[in-house]
Amino acid sequence: MKIDILTIFPNVALAPLSESIVGRAVAAGKVELSVHDLRDWTVDKHRKVDDEPYGGGPGMVMKPDPFFAAVRELRGDGQARVVLMTPQGRRFDQNIARDYARDFAAPGAHLIILCGHYEGVDHRVVEGLVDDEISIGDYVLTNGALAAAVFVDALVRLIPGVLGDERSADEESFAVGVPLLEAPCYTRPPDFEGRVVPEVLLSGHHGKIGEWRREMALLRTKTNRPDMLGDEA
Ligand SMILES: C[S@@+](CC[C@H](N)C(=O)[O-])C[C@H]1O[C@@H](n2cnc3c(N)ncnc32)[C@H](O)[C@@H]1O
Repeated sequence: MKIDILTIFPNVALAPLSESIVGRAVAAGKVELSVHDLRDWTVDKHRKVDDEPYGGGPGMVMKPDPFFAAVRELRGDGQARVVLMTPQGRRFDQNIARDYARDFAAPGAHLIILCGHYEGVDHRVVEGLVDDEISIGDYVLTNGALAAAVFVDALVRLIPGVLGDERSADEESFAVGVPLLEAPCYTRPPDFEGRVVPEVLLSGHHGKIGEWRREMALLRTKTNRPDMLGDEA
């Protein structure tokens, strides 16, 4: 899998993707990740990536030409899916992460991720370059670099061989066929300032532990995310 991120804030996207599980996957060559400064594809001496909006209004709009030049160069003669991070996109979730992990796990598969700033990007970028628009939630960030990092983190950890224990992805919140949040988890000590670990988890009885986890998962989902059970009340 090859991922190119285009942003005017490369460090913002790079920092979270350089650590932990994704950082190790990149270091091990399981993912080829590059974060580029979009200004490298400007041609004027001020490296200008934005301009005033036609029709007036506040803020600046990101110019189309650096995006087109960058995507053409990064794509070369090959194929790549181009994703724009935008609050106007389809809302990202675990199903979308799974789809991308499945479609892009192969070594040659190429993803180019575009990040906006200011008021957003010139709409000709959306029309002429973008295959998919992704929002990481119903709120507005200052720029797309953090959103790109969230998107990449969520899909890279689902690529086979990236997580240490594959069961982690099968048993966690939003897992396939189990539309529930995960049950509470505990580690040592068994008694922390009077808060004790539920007895059943110390019992070693796998059947009972499984049953307890299912009950707790259902309870947490009912309490925190009733919408996942089709119950909005
Ligand atoms: C201030 S936002 C632009 C918001 C735009 N004016 C609007 O109302 O939809 C600047 C950039 O941050 C990124 N961004 C902000 N919120 C986002 C979100 N929820 N999901 C994905 N990207 C987001 C996008 O790349 C966007 O172009």
